[in-house]
Amino acid sequence: MNILLLGSGGREHALAWKLAQSPSMGQFYALPGNPGIGQHAELIEGIPLSAHDTLVTWCKDHGIEMVVVGPEAPLVAGLVDRLEAEGIAAFGPRAAAARLEGSKLFTKELCKANNIPTAGFARCTSLEEAEAYIRKEGAPIVVKADGLMAGKGVVVAMTPEEAITAVEQVFTGGGTEVLIEEFMEGEEASLFCLVDGETVLPFGSAQDHKRAFDGDLGPNTGGMGAYSPAPVLTPELEQRAIEEIIRPTAKAMAAAGTPYRGVLYAGLMLTQHGPKLVEYNCRFGDPECQVLMLRFTGDLVDVLHATATGRLAEITPSWSDEHAMTVVYASRGYPGPHQIGSEIRELDAAEAEPGVRVFQAGTRMKGTALVSNGGRVLNVTATGATLGEAQTRAYEAIARIDWPDGFYRTDIGWRALGQPAKAAD
Ligand code: AMP
Ligand code: GLY
Repeated sequence: MNILLLGSGGREHALAWKLAQSPSMGQFYALPGNPGIGQHAELIEGIPLSAHDTLVTWCKDHGIEMVVVGPEAPLVAGLVDRLEAEGIAAFGPRAAAARLEGSKLFTKELCKANNIPTAGFARCTSLEEAEAYIRKEGAPIVVKADGLMAGKGVVVAMTPEEAITAVEQVFTGGGTEVLIEEFMEGEEASLFCLVDGETVLPFGSAQDHKRAFDGDLGPNTGGMGAYSPAPVLTPELEQRAIEEIIRPTAKAMAAAGTPYRGVLYAGLMLTQHGPKLVEYNCRFGDPECQVLMLRFTGDLVDVLHATATGRLAEITPSWSDEHAMTVVYASRGYPGPHQIGSEIRELDAAEAEPGVRVFQAGTRMKGTALVSNGGRVLNVTATGATLGEAQTRAYEAIARIDWPDGFYRTDIGWRALGQPAKAAD
């Protein structure tokens, strides 16, 4: 099968690595990709992901049989609708179904209408309305801007004043409404399910670390590390989440004439009353995908194509019993201003460690040198018989990489392992 993979992050490198192992892979292309993805696929240059017409024409000219969409923006913008209209299978939801990520309000209304457990909420269209609601409910309370905010539109306010300031920022920044949510207490976990419109296939769990620095301190990021499976999401809790949250969502989307096809990534809060939905994403998590791909042992081309074409009921995915952990090596300063363009050496030495893969995110070639080209640059990923072993291997591998301009958290996995990892300098 000829495949085009869209995206350029560590998530897409992990997908490319796994897709390339499939016996049914034909010609494999990636747009725009990165040097890591280029080890597995031919990189295509010069077509922006937003140029849907050009992309569709390119796919037809190159006999593409499936497009795998990594990031959310092309999904929300309707790329899959366009591809499917031209008879090209695509992994990822159509725009109407991608609203599960694209509009928090849409998802909250869907939960309310279908009794799906989530935080209570109010939608406010003015500062006065929001302030009155916040004063009535008290803190802690959560303020969210609607739309795609890359995880940055959320403020967990510990006082009413903090919440009101957050609301003001949304409105002065051009927002026209805010969501105000009940604060849910518990541990967070991510559950990934493939959905083909009807069939729901659990596809692994993970936990990530959103804050930039050790001890879960510092600013929020896209994620500084992750591990899979998530030990807090016991088989019983996972089953509850599937029955009470995922299946009713898939059913409601299908009943509305907008069936969900793709990976449904549920951010869950494991509260004392059971799992509740924090949010949906309509794509794989980054860096959660990297740990899932190290544990998945099946044929990814087959599984993604079955998802895209309504054949998931035929699939039994296979998984390794091992645990996986990924540690993000980021540019110093990330998520704030940071330099790019510094040389990274010794990736081979890191990958020589047992069970280790280094996935590339923000990298590019400068002549024959690999240099940094973004905030999150490498995902040093390892498997082990236990999570502790995966952690030890990941940190031994990252210590072998020669990149003075990078930094990483030294405590990935602390929630599950109960103690910070030792920095392996
Ligand atoms: P979101 O972008 O909706 O996933 O929110 C980002 C983060 O904010 C989540 O991962 C949670 O840590 C936190 N959060 C969001 N909503 C709530 C809530 N209702 N209660 C507690 N924490 C929340
Ligand atoms: N790591 C969080 C995300 O992909 O949204």
